[in-house]
Amino acid sequence: MLVFFMKGRVKFKVLAKVLYEVLTHRVSVDVAFKRACKGVRLKGTAERELLYELARKFVSDYHKLRCILGDVRTYAKYVRVWLEGISDEGLPPHCRLSYSRWFYDKVISLLGENEGRQLLASMNKRVWWLRINTLRASEEKVVRLLEHEGVKYVIDKDYSFLVRIEETPKPIRLLKPVREYMAIPQDKASVAVIHVLSPEAGDIIVDMAAAPGMKTSLIMMLTENRAKVIAVDISYRRILLMKNLLRKLGVDLSRVHLVVSDSSKIRFPAYPSKVLLDAPCSNSGAVSKDPALKVTLSEGKVKYYALKQAELLNNALQIGSMIVYSVCSIMPEEGELIVSLYKDRIRLERTLTWASEGYAGLPLSSSVMRLFPHKHMTEGFFIAKMLTK
Ligand SMILES: C[S@@+](CC[C@H](N)C(=O)[O-])C[C@H]1O[C@@H](n2cnc3c(N)ncnc32)[C@H](O)[C@@H]1O
Repeated sequence: MLVFFMKGRVKFKVLAKVLYEVLTHRVSVDVAFKRACKGVRLKGTAERELLYELARKFVSDYHKLRCILGDVRTYAKYVRVWLEGISDEGLPPHCRLSYSRWFYDKVISLLGENEGRQLLASMNKRVWWLRINTLRASEEKVVRLLEHEGVKYVIDKDYSFLVRIEETPKPIRLLKPVREYMAIPQDKASVAVIHVLSPEAGDIIVDMAAAPGMKTSLIMMLTENRAKVIAVDISYRRILLMKNLLRKLGVDLSRVHLVVSDSSKIRFPAYPSKVLLDAPCSNSGAVSKDPALKVTLSEGKVKYYALKQAELLNNALQIGSMIVYSVCSIMPEEGELIVSLYKDRIRLERTLTWASEGYAGLPLSSSVMRLFPHKHMTEGFFIAKMLTK
């Protein structure tokens, strides 16, 4: 009885603190959960994982709870009502799907009611992709190890080094191939970005927003460490994390030049073979990974990033003649509308046959690529391949 009581208290306290962190400090669920668990005694990994999943669901249901409770200001009330169980009967669609009115209306205006709702519903579920890191182990070895751990997976039809996890007896990060950097969680959309970049041995590639290095590491994997990457990021802290990650993934660090700089101003003495601009963005395509985005996303944020993206792309067009621009966003303000600012200076190529086109009715939409959770089981991404005129 005491154990049950204690567990209930812990659960209550952690969930309330998670919501406080997300609403007050606008952080991700992962960061909020870490902060909320500080000083809390949990009985091992299993309890922690259960609580983590609960925290994700709770934050994901925030807008639904708001619809039910109105403008209640106490976190405790949100937690209590949610733990007792809520019903969405009679609620309007944005409340049932648990999105802000603004975000819901925006998606419906882009895709129509049916498809828009499908997209929003699929962003409420997480899909896990694992990229087999062939710099550390063969594809065969990694799938054998996954099977040995009881993981159910599907090998992707487009990329043989990518698997979609269907069931796992333990958290992904605790699986042996992941712990030993033979595999790493990476969404299929990120892989598709590098597919569009099509790195080759001998290429010199500028990665303009490189940290924490997931795409740089894939470039090096696909070229068997035979490309050269100039990896730029504005954040020194993130560049340090990147260096550490690349080393663990088996990337030849003598071929990756790490630079801390503002890529909207940086210049290079010579043209690289290819430029990747995986720009900072609102992350509106990554809601399934971080449900806190449903709470923290705003029109202001989208506008803020659109300005940054325009500056960065402007400079990318001076740096190289082949540029891949990508953002993990479903907002046209960060995709079609950014690229169309430079339409007179570029030619676009659509190389990803399985991707969707851009949003109907927007400039250049038939020449750019979009990936969607409800269609491609990926995060929501925008990708454009540009050649300067
Ligand atoms: C979407 S993340 C990049 C993810 C990375 N490409 C990967 O696959 O791991 C965007 C990055 O852009 C960086 N950034 C933001 N503004 C920048 C700027 N003006 N110049 C260079 N990097 C910038 C951020 O620090 C962040 O690391």
